[in-house]
Amino acid sequence: MKLLSAYGVALLAAQAAGVAIKHRINGLTLTEHPDAAKRELLQKYKVKALGFNCVSFYVDWALVEGKPGEYRADGIFDLEPFFNAAKEAGIYLLARPGPYINAESSGGGFPGWLQRVNGTLRTSDKGYLDATDNYAANVGATIAKHQITNGGPIILYQPENEYTSSCCSVEFPNADYMQYVEDQARNAGVVIPLINNDASAEGHNAPGTGKGAVDIYGHDSYPLGFDCANPTVWPSGDLPTDFRTLHLEQSPTTPYSIVEFQGGSYDPWGGPGFAACAELLNNEFERVFYKNDFSFQIAIMNLYMIFGGTNWGNLGYPNGYTSYDYGSALTESRNITREKYSELKLLGNFAKVSPAYLTASPGSLTTSGYADTADLSVTPLLSNGTGSFFVIRHSDYSSEDSTSYKLSLPTSAGTVTIPQLGGTLILNGRDSKIHVVDYNVSGTNIIYSTAEVFTWKKFSDSKVLVIYGGSGEHHELSIATKSNVTVVEGSASEITSKQTGKAVVIGWDVSATRRIVQVGDLKVLLLDRNSAYNYWVPQLATDGTEPGFSTQETVASSIIVKAGYLVRTAYVEGADLYITADFNATTAIEVFGAPSNAKNLFINGDKAKYTVDKNGIWSTEVKYTAPDISLPSLESLEWKYLDTLPEIQSSYDDSLWPDADLDKTPNTFRELTTPTSLYSCDYGFSTGYLLYRGQFVATGNESTFLVDPQGGSAFGSSVWLNGTYLGSWTGLYVYSDYNATFDLPQLEAGKTYVITVVIDNMGLEENWTVGEELMKTPRGILNFELSGREASAISWKLTGNLGGEDYEDKVRGPLNEGGLYAERQGFHQPEPPSQNWKSSSPLDGISEAGIAFYSASFDLDLPTGWDVPLYFNFGNSTTPEPYRVQLYVNGYQYGKYISNIGPQTNFPVPEGILNYRGTNWVAVSLWALSSEGAKLESFELSYTTPVLTALAEVQSVDQPKYTARKGAY
Ligand SMILES: *[C@@H]1O[C@H](CO)[C@@H](O)[C@H](O)[C@H]1NC(C)=O
Ligand SMILES: *[C@@H]1O[C@H](CO)[C@@H](O)[C@H](O)[C@H]1NC(C)=O
Ligand SMILES: *[C@@H]1O[C@H](CO)[C@@H](O)[C@H](O)[C@H]1NC(C)=O
Repeated sequence: MKLLSAYGVALLAAQAAGVAIKHRINGLTLTEHPDAAKRELLQKYKVKALGFNCVSFYVDWALVEGKPGEYRADGIFDLEPFFNAAKEAGIYLLARPGPYINAESSGGGFPGWLQRVNGTLRTSDKGYLDATDNYAANVGATIAKHQITNGGPIILYQPENEYTSSCCSVEFPNADYMQYVEDQARNAGVVIPLINNDASAEGHNAPGTGKGAVDIYGHDSYPLGFDCANPTVWPSGDLPTDFRTLHLEQSPTTPYSIVEFQGGSYDPWGGPGFAACAELLNNEFERVFYKNDFSFQIAIMNLYMIFGGTNWGNLGYPNGYTSYDYGSALTESRNITREKYSELKLLGNFAKVSPAYLTASPGSLTTSGYADTADLSVTPLLSNGTGSFFVIRHSDYSSEDSTSYKLSLPTSAGTVTIPQLGGTLILNGRDSKIHVVDYNVSGTNIIYSTAEVFTWKKFSDSKVLVIYGGSGEHHELSIATKSNVTVVEGSASEITSKQTGKAVVIGWDVSATRRIVQVGDLKVLLLDRNSAYNYWVPQLATDGTEPGFSTQETVASSIIVKAGYLVRTAYVEGADLYITADFNATTAIEVFGAPSNAKNLFINGDKAKYTVDKNGIWSTEVKYTAPDISLPSLESLEWKYLDTLPEIQSSYDDSLWPDADLDKTPNTFRELTTPTSLYSCDYGFSTGYLLYRGQFVATGNESTFLVDPQGGSAFGSSVWLNGTYLGSWTGLYVYSDYNATFDLPQLEAGKTYVITVVIDNMGLEENWTVGEELMKTPRGILNFELSGREASAISWKLTGNLGGEDYEDKVRGPLNEGGLYAERQGFHQPEPPSQNWKSSSPLDGISEAGIAFYSASFDLDLPTGWDVPLYFNFGNSTTPEPYRVQLYVNGYQYGKYISNIGPQTNFPVPEGILNYRGTNWVAVSLWALSSEGAKLESFELSYTTPVLTALAEVQSVDQPKYTARKGAY
């Protein structure tokens, strides 16, 4: 608590995808992007530039303890490079290691082997608690090592995740359980404050509630919901109004904290796509909903997600597809071209320079007293002369009207009716503003401003305040000064001003052309919102090149830079001012407040010629000439082909396959309806495709075979009898399992037959509701019936990834590969032994049901100094024949495409997985779920706008190549 009050400014956090962690940087989660250190660094400057000072990250237990008792957090799963990168960027971290994380991840982060634990998950049952100990001790120790008290960036620790909902008569909330999880952290050496995230504001485990209480109570909120299919609809009543009241009831002694506030939305298989989610949760949503949070005096605000990333390597749960873009401010391919990024930057930087906001007294929302129309509602945060804030919005929050209004605000100069100089204020539809009163700009009192504050800075010889308004709006500003107003840039005729006693009042219509007015030693930049988007406030490093943490921003020094796409960092060395920035177009650059000792300007290491105008603004330009990018045609690679379903050949030998011979299941979720367990996790297979082989000796009287495979939402399944294709379930989002009955050909009495069943395992269910035990929902075969026969007539074998929990690929981790023959052999890795494979391309495909595997290599030679997002694009399916594709890039699974369900056809693969200057291996598995076969209709490597980048060269992750695997079958 002391720690927090010392910050002095709102702690703005953002969840991002992380390293061994899922890529959930809601602000930050690790693991998604294996090339952790460098790439996370990149994300962090993008988050830091928003004015945010913290990133939260999940750790995905399933990725670091694939085998019970073996915690492995090295290579791409190492958390420490990520922690170091955060420190370097000056970003605090909120650690969210679970053990349960939800996060739209397979099992909600629980490893598959938890299906075998005898004990209710997320309760104090011993079986479950024991299972968590090894992970908690290991991850806890690593976090402890990097907490702020040890010089690291981690300031908060969140035990559990959305511990809020229960069913089925389990004890809830279970104080012993929550205390156990907290003790695990404390016993591992974690001393920083514990914060929780109740899924909704219900007060669970708030301070003062006894055993299991955390230090800081927080809750989550996704008020606009997840209906991306209707991205312009704001249903009535979705805007929260009671958060402050609940806070005062539930946890009045702690900073008001929303640990996950909506930053986007998930999207299911077959959904409308993340572009639609980004539209639903767009810049207007941010303006109205985030400012509404500010009206409650939010002190810790964490957005989920700021960067969602990719469900690579089977990381996701069944209801989501490969992309976890989330419609976030940072897109899956890491660009910041969505307007919501820019809008967020305006708000984040405002919070950073407005510490008075945290000490004002929030009042109640009112439709009278401040605005002169009941169409508008205002929430005041009042102080007596030391900074008041008035959050204004439409009373009908979803209104699309433009409403004229006058304000009556209490100020140190008495109650003023605004505008004083004529004109009218306007609030456009789906907008909200924070009007400031008695706002302290380094000793100058802004009596009020109807234009919103982006930032202000005190430089050695002047002060700069940057304010903005929407296009077409009229604004007014009043400053306590006797100085005159001089328009030092732009046309004076458009600006009115008047001395009134001890203040000056300035009125103007917003223009796309910047105006600067000078009042005493204060320069005020009058901008329109779109222009404000181009301004950045990099914090000058006090020592060296790294900015350091920025919660003390009001005292730390920064410069203000007008540029374009992104400004990352700024630092001074002797007489040289260095700026690092990214460009997606030729960009004029201006520097405000260059330190007086700085004489030379360097941009991305190159010395720049600049001019200085009469206002001391440095100007230069960075030229952008798009580089030549030539990408190989994937369609014309030398593809090698392998039938990856040898199991249906008569000669196939499955003697090395594990027997499905458990006559009891340890899984308490569902009783067996088969003589032996056919639940894959009972045998250690919890990820990727599953294969079953059932052998029986025919009597000749069998006429049908029924099978009920379960793979999760949108799963598919195909069934063969020996080499004869019986049929497929091609998948629908609403089916997690599907009972299919197949007619059999006439079988020969006394002959041995094998039924082969292939199942697409879409990941394990989450376990959100305690007691429901959904995570234990089995994968595999729930039931089967061979007509006229006892179930015991069939003896089953099964496989998933080679070795199951003794997984082969320690580098790419326990979830990356599934059970196809080619995957078991490791042929999805670089340099498979394909010399003698047939030449055939996935564009040719196969002409009957089956599963084909293709591998090819290509070289890339992309220019250095450019950030070029690359995508593998499958095109839109136009054929009725359904097929499923897995995309492997240098051995990492980076895409699952389902032609008949979608919606994703375009799969970004980051640099570092792809070698931008070197050889790459791509593999594709193509599963045809129809007797017509299937082929890819198109397959292309494409790119979007190359960004001239300050980013250091990306080092590729380890990409072990194929070596023959011992015991592979
Ligand atoms: C930004 O990312 C999104 C999502 O990955 C993508 O659709 C869009 O094309 C990208 N834009 C640029 C300019 O890279
Ligand atoms: C505000 O402060 C002034 C000066 O200290 C005092 O005269 C006045 O009563 C205060 N007003 C309120 C509402 O507290
Ligand atoms: C689980 O544990 C309970 C209590 O110890 C025991 O009664 C039950 O038989 C166990 N179940 C399994 C499937 O092992």
